[in-house]
Amino acid sequence: MKYLVTGAAGFIGFFTSRRLLDAGHQVVGIDNMNDYYEVQLKRDRLKELEPFEHFNFLQLDLADREGMAELFKEHKFDIVIHLAAQAGVRYSLDNPFAYADSNMVGHLSVLEGCRHNNVKHLVYASSSSVYGLNSKMPFSTEDSVDHPVSLYAATKKANELMSHTYSHLYDIPTSGLRFFTVYGPWGRPDMALFKFTKAILNGEPIDIYNDGNLARDFTYIDDIVEGILRVAKNIPTKNTEWKAEEGSPKDSSAPYRVYNIGNGSPVQLMDFVKAIEDAIGIEAKKNFMPMQPGDVYKTWADTEDLEKVTSHKPQVTVSKGVQKFVNWYRNYYKV
Ligand SMILES: NC(=O)c1ccc[n+]([C@@H]2O[C@H](COP(=O)([O-])OP(=O)(O)OC[C@H]3O[C@@H](n4cnc5c(N)ncnc54)[C@H](O)[C@@H]3O)[C@@H](O)[C@H]2O)c1
Repeated sequence: MKYLVTGAAGFIGFFTSRRLLDAGHQVVGIDNMNDYYEVQLKRDRLKELEPFEHFNFLQLDLADREGMAELFKEHKFDIVIHLAAQAGVRYSLDNPFAYADSNMVGHLSVLEGCRHNNVKHLVYASSSSVYGLNSKMPFSTEDSVDHPVSLYAATKKANELMSHTYSHLYDIPTSGLRFFTVYGPWGRPDMALFKFTKAILNGEPIDIYNDGNLARDFTYIDDIVEGILRVAKNIPTKNTEWKAEEGSPKDSSAPYRVYNIGNGSPVQLMDFVKAIEDAIGIEAKKNFMPMQPGDVYKTWADTEDLEKVTSHKPQVTVSKGVQKFVNWYRNYYKV
């Protein structure tokens, strides 16, 4: 099979590409290599993919309409796994237009590419942040998600709406994956695990928001990639029973699905910090801070649907996953 993986130099895109290549698929990876975080980390991820014979990389911006149209026309992909985006909640407060360009225009370029080139399945990254002000736990794809609290979240919800429109109009099967705080080796420098590990090893204090009263459904990268690849094989069909008046938001009369992809067990931030301290063997100096605008208090994924469709339940515990990250970090940065 021929796959397009967007954001192939990114954290999740890199692991997804590697798994596909290991399984013998052909992968074209694209990424604009932006400097939202250290570009060397993106280059080094790509270095790991270069030895694969069936891997091709192209530096391309999603918002480059002609470039994207040419790419789709040239390769005629079977399946598209669209992971490139401007990520991060806090950055969206100061850089809103980065989200308009990469997440809105970018998603449209991908949809147009799928529309004109007979792509069999588009799997794309949404986010747990779409749950915004929802307080019913666990977060379910049966619930409405109309109250985002960051522009980032609003663009991810918009991606789901745009995908539904294209599924309806052009019969493109689309599956949206709401990722819940993904962590692991080669992870993102703007996320808590990376920042805390770096600070603790440098003897610097860590900033703990909302005095530590936060919880996240941390999901290890291998569990995420397993879920992505299993969903990719499960091409959604039209739900002929679906009716607008009583139908659930998670599917449709169009070949459209959204899934939560998370661990299914929230961890308190202070327990997460303890796991990092244990993995490093040093106690952190802690700066307790107020709640950050745009953040949510707790995330918890209802993953029943995903388990039903993929027969996969996340396996990796936070203590094991954090230890793997810390081992990678110390080896990569030689600290
Ligand atoms: N990591 C998480 O916890 C998490 C949680 C929820 C959702 N997500 C979503 O999952 C996807 C992957 O996230 P990640 O953690 O791997 O992030 P990442 O930033 O490591 O990867 C995204 C990649 O996309 C590239 N990119 C950004 N804008 C682009 C553009 N306009 N054109 C081409 N390439 C572009 C970046 O250079 C980067 O390498 C994103 O859509 C993100 O919003 C991630």
